[in-house]
Amino acid sequence: MYTEKVMDHFANPRNVGEIKGASGIGQVGNARCGDIMKVFLKIENNIIEDAKFQTFGCGAAVATSSIATELIIGKTIEDALKVTNKVVTEELDGLPPAKLHCSVLAEEALHAALWDYAEKNNITIAGLKKATECSHGCHEH
Ligand code: FES
Repeated sequence: MYTEKVMDHFANPRNVGEIKGASGIGQVGNARCGDIMKVFLKIENNIIEDAKFQTFGCGAAVATSSIATELIIGKTIEDALKVTNKVVTEELDGLPPAKLHCSVLAEEALHAALWDYAEKNNITIAGLKKATECSHGCHEH
């Protein structure tokens, strides 16, 4: 049911934890399952120097966040925004259809953390939208 990459990131998640004095913190909930994701970013000179996550989420949420943090570290904010849930899912060689909504949690938490960073620094990030009240991953609101 799960690919080897998913199992690897689930069993050995990368970048779990928190960043003290993070530049941006984002927390979102998945209304479909009640799971929660929190992402911490350290940003310097527009580059994501470090990223960590904590989750009360399922294995697919752990795996997608793990690989998402790996993919964004070292990237500019603009390039990190291109790490969508679709990209993350592809990097994991796919997720079962019933688990696709879990990958949205990582993307939303990343965007919320970037929004927090932008607000704290009084800047706007092109293409970044504030997370909506309803964050169950349907992108219809
Ligand atoms: Fe909740 Fe996967 S079942 S994030």
